Amino acid sequence: MDIQGKVALITGAGSGIGRATALMLAREGAAVMVADIDPAGGTATVEAIASAGGRAAYVRSDVSTPAGTRAMFAEVERVFGGVDIVYNNAGVSCGDPVWPDVSLERIAEVVAINVMGVMMGTEMAVHAMRKRGGGVIINTASIAADHPSRFEPVYGGTKAAVAMFTRSCAALKESDNVRVNAVSPGMVKTAFQRKTGDGTTPATWLQPAIERTGDNILPPEAIAEAVLDFIRDDTQAGVVRTVTNVTPATGS
Ligand SMILES: NC(=O)c1ccc[n+]([C@@H]2O[C@H](COP(=O)([O-])OP(=O)(O)OC[C@H]3O[C@@H](n4cnc5c(N)ncnc54)[C@H](O)[C@@H]3O)[C@@H](O)[C@H]2O)c1
Repeated sequence: MDIQGKVALITGAGSGIGRATALMLAREGAAVMVADIDPAGGTATVEAIASAGGRAAYVRSDVSTPAGTRAMFAEVERVFGGVDIVYNNAGVSCGDPVWPDVSLERIAEVVAINVMGVMMGTEMAVHAMRKRGGGVIINTASIAADHPSRFEPVYGGTKAAVAMFTRSCAALKESDNVRVNAVSPGMVKTAFQRKTGDGTTPATWLQPAIERTGDNILPPEAIAEAVLDFIRDDTQAGVVRTVTNVTPATGS
């Protein structure tokens, strides 16, 4: 798909990987709907795009609920008249206290954001894209989908669900001209590490990975590039692509 002139909706675009992808897509000529639960982050992304001469709008969204998901798609329809590219990227980990001391409420919240958010976002995207004859959906998985973490089985489980869901959507390319793919990042330099800990230091579960990664941590733009590759390459569907500089240890 040619990016110029298309409309993109990106969840979690108020920070990190989502923001880097929003900036890159706007630079390539897409109008971007920045969706995030955090208004400060979301509006900062819109301002960064606007000051670089791009086109963007912000919608406060909670991807973990059906109502939040519907409202987000209604807003992209209202502001930009439809959508061609949807990047289901918003995601969180349980953080501290680590498994098995995490609360049931936190488990429910993480599963709702990471799994239901992606599934509901994909469902809504396919229906919106049918009206335009097709489109591209990208989801964010994680290398945690393939490499067990004793401290974060909930996060790893949600990301494995995203990966299999993405592979299982491959047939939408034939039925609806909608290609669904996923990026599966290794350690990326974003606020994620801080947010999953006590707000200032990384969560316990991330420390082994941070030590292993060292200076090989990826910039968020590396993941954004992989997202743009999926948009441009019309052959890819049902593919989960790992993007990392480091070979993860198993069983950590
Ligand atoms: N940073 C990493 O090392 C890494 C590695 C692998 C995968 N990932 C995945 O990449 C994605 C992006 O993470 P990031 O590193 O950019 O983190 P980040 O914390 O910088 O950004 C996540 C964004 O999602 C938003 N968000 C959280 N809950 C939301 C909700 N219910 N509705 C809408 N928005 C919500 C946050 O406000 C935030 O702006 C996540 O799915 C994460 O699991 C990150």
